[in-house]
Amino acid sequence: MELKPNQIVCGDCIEILNGVDEPVADLIFADPPFNIGYKYDKYHDKVEKKNYIDWTKDWMLACCKALKPSGSFYIAIGDDYAANVKVIADEIGLTMRNWIIWHYTFGQQTKAKFARAHTHIFYFVKDKENYTFNVDAIRVFSDRQKRYKDKRANPEGKLPDDVWDEHPRLCGTFDEREGWHPCQMPESLLARIIRVSSNCGDCILDPFNGSGTTTVVAHKMKRNYIGIEISKQYVKEAQKRIQQSEEFPVEGEGEINWTERLDAELKWLYHENKMSTEKLSDNKYLLGLFTLKFNNRIGFVNNPCRPEDIKARLTKLRKSAKLGPLRGHVEDK
Ligand SMILES: C[S@@+](CC[C@H](N)C(=O)[O-])C[C@H]1O[C@@H](n2cnc3c(N)ncnc32)[C@H](O)[C@@H]1O
Repeated sequence: MELKPNQIVCGDCIEILNGVDEPVADLIFADPPFNIGYKYDKYHDKVEKKNYIDWTKDWMLACCKALKPSGSFYIAIGDDYAANVKVIADEIGLTMRNWIIWHYTFGQQTKAKFARAHTHIFYFVKDKENYTFNVDAIRVFSDRQKRYKDKRANPEGKLPDDVWDEHPRLCGTFDEREGWHPCQMPESLLARIIRVSSNCGDCILDPFNGSGTTTVVAHKMKRNYIGIEISKQYVKEAQKRIQQSEEFPVEGEGEINWTERLDAELKWLYHENKMSTEKLSDNKYLLGLFTLKFNNRIGFVNNPCRPEDIKARLTKLRKSAKLGPLRGHVEDK
């Protein structure tokens, strides 16, 4: 079977991926149900432990069949089965490049133990000598730049480490939240993964498409996408989300024609660099570098955004609550 790009297919990912003739994906991001009793439309998220582990091996093998030899494979998983995922990956010959912790605070309260505030994200490759890792595309401001004003700091910034705390989990009141799916991932997290482990025109596959975060971000970033999802209802809603992410103009100011796409990129950069709009506005040097990063990402060469455009737009998005809370900062007023 040929799995064509730029579609969200309804069905069981194991059956579909086992049926592909040729590897199609340059990058796979899988966020399966965690077997913790979440309420999904179709899937029952509480099965016998052994069945869940066997099933995990089945879908991981099916994904490997669809992954190109130079492909990368990211898997998000909770505490209960993280060790099993790692053991299965070793058995099937994947190489782990990072074991990332996505740390979020969500306001959950516990009564008798520490609140769980993280998810594991494994980063595997098929071939440890041949994979895409776009180092310069994901650099963020270093403490030398932000805090110590150290002249020796690399102006390009530093690579993020393997604890990611800058992507807030989406709560019900966030502008980005779709509301019809119980566990939507933040776009900024997927944007980092897609940016570093793929190039424009590559094919990104999500076997558990859910609300469609991976596919929508891939589409925004000019990659091809394939989503697989067992619920017809989620497929329909995710397709709508893709249509809404087209480059439609949004109300702007100044000379830039602001679009949904430009706003998304601005928001992702803001979270990745963890600098409040006030701090950024006060620091000309970093605002200049931030503007440069933005122009590079968007591909604005002849008519680039100016620092004052970025400052005005960020302030506007912040005032209309479209930026979401910034990790480690009291909200800007
Ligand atoms: C944790 S959610 C994915 C959320 C997604 N990352 C997002 O940001 O919206 C898992 C999804 O997998 C779907 N699912 C469960 N079993 C499946 C299967 N065998 N094939 C395809 N999809 C499946 C569920 O319906 C659910 O929407």
